[in-house]
Amino acid sequence: MIKNPETFTIITFGCQMNKSDSELMEVSLTQEGFVKSNNYGDIIIFNTCSVRKHAEDRALAYIIEARNTYRQSIIIVAGCMAQRLGQELRSNYGVDLVVGPYHSPAIGSIIKNYIQNQSIRQYTSQDASDFVSRIHPSLVAHKDELPWHKWVTISHGCQNYCAYCIVPYVRGKLLSFPSQQIIDYCTLLIDNGITEITLLGQNVNQYGQDSGDIPFYSLLEKVASLPGLYKLNFLTSHPKDFNSEILHVIKDNPVIARSIHLPLQSGSDTILQAMNRQYTMKHYYSLIEAIHALLPMVSITTDLIVGFPGETQRDFEDTLAAVRTIQFDEAFTYKYSPREGTKAYTLPDSVPDTVKQERLDLLIHTVRDISRKRLMNHIHTTTDMIVERISKKSDNEVMGKTIYNQPVIIKGGKEDIGKKYTVTIVSVKGSTLYGERSA
Ligand code: SAH
Ligand code: SF4
Ligand code: F3S
Repeated sequence: MIKNPETFTIITFGCQMNKSDSELMEVSLTQEGFVKSNNYGDIIIFNTCSVRKHAEDRALAYIIEARNTYRQSIIIVAGCMAQRLGQELRSNYGVDLVVGPYHSPAIGSIIKNYIQNQSIRQYTSQDASDFVSRIHPSLVAHKDELPWHKWVTISHGCQNYCAYCIVPYVRGKLLSFPSQQIIDYCTLLIDNGITEITLLGQNVNQYGQDSGDIPFYSLLEKVASLPGLYKLNFLTSHPKDFNSEILHVIKDNPVIARSIHLPLQSGSDTILQAMNRQYTMKHYYSLIEAIHALLPMVSITTDLIVGFPGETQRDFEDTLAAVRTIQFDEAFTYKYSPREGTKAYTLPDSVPDTVKQERLDLLIHTVRDISRKRLMNHIHTTTDMIVERISKKSDNEVMGKTIYNQPVIIKGGKEDIGKKYTVTIVSVKGSTLYGERSA
């Protein structure tokens, strides 16, 4: 091991929750005096995801390569795969320290301790008392990829136990953070120049149910009413808990993005039941109707899985039919990946990979056609946008996101980055809108 480890690098895989945890790790390491490095440093941390086998294989390839190349560095695996594989990462991959999600925000002192005294090398307990909070005032000074934006984790874990999903096992049970702490933190962020916030949780709609705190729609309303905010997003909703109170709050607060991510997973009631999703297609359709009734212009996006155990051609066609009926603006599509420890893992992985791939290809094709058509509907409409960066294609153009969270390009330069403008959409090229700034 390197004598006096000073520098660190964090490589992040997986969802926004992991990105947000990586920020906390950075704060923790900096507080302990370590210095961030853009190259692989003395301390190399992989913040990993277990949601699909592919995600784990990718991280493992990085870990093997790092262990072979940087023999003196301290190699640490954090995040969901750390929780899932624990000891195996140390014995089979030569990892020095394993730190699960309950402990990762305390990683600075864990590493200090490890350097001084190498007795404990695995932190994977999931006792509530070991849980390190995700809301930390010093995060205010830490800049996101978009310096005016912040992820704000409102709850951790999930106990819905969808049959395919590893998250409840690796992230533990639902823990909602106190609403007053969240609101105070958001206020502090806005006072420090933050104009866009994304509230995060595996199922934000269940916020407060574990702690008896205010329901999600109240929290959303309170954050939306903080003066100074340009845009408020939230991820992820669950169709079984999404309700009309949330919709009314969106309707009454223009600062909330007109973009609802509502994972459907499958269009077949048989498969939805086998997945333990706890809703039917009838319920999902009623939600879509309610959304359109209250929000005339809105973007609805989803997640879909093909090849869940027992999925027949007929079930898959039900998914295609649902996609065509609902007309999603975008869908993230996945091949089912068996995850050890989940309920579905005990079922035969009955759909051959070639069939999964065929279904996935057809689904992607169908989704893409619909997305393009849906984008065309924006032509001649007026919308707000926040400029994110100079366009990749031209120095005289800038790219940003509309209130529907769709990419839009307008004329502009460096000075426009982070600004909010009202634009009229004039054309669509590929999956990008082109707009003109209103006077
Ligand atoms: N909490 C969120 C996100 C869960 S993971 C939610 O409930 O929607 C993100 C997506 O990955 C899921 O919506 C699902 O579509 C997909 N996913 C989860 N487990 C999977 C698995 N074992 N195989 C394939 N896709 C999976
Ligand atoms: Fe996984 Fe379901 Fe929880 Fe989402 S709601 S994290 S899919 S168990
Ligand atoms: Fe992956 Fe863990 Fe997020 S499994 S999707 S990093 S909660």
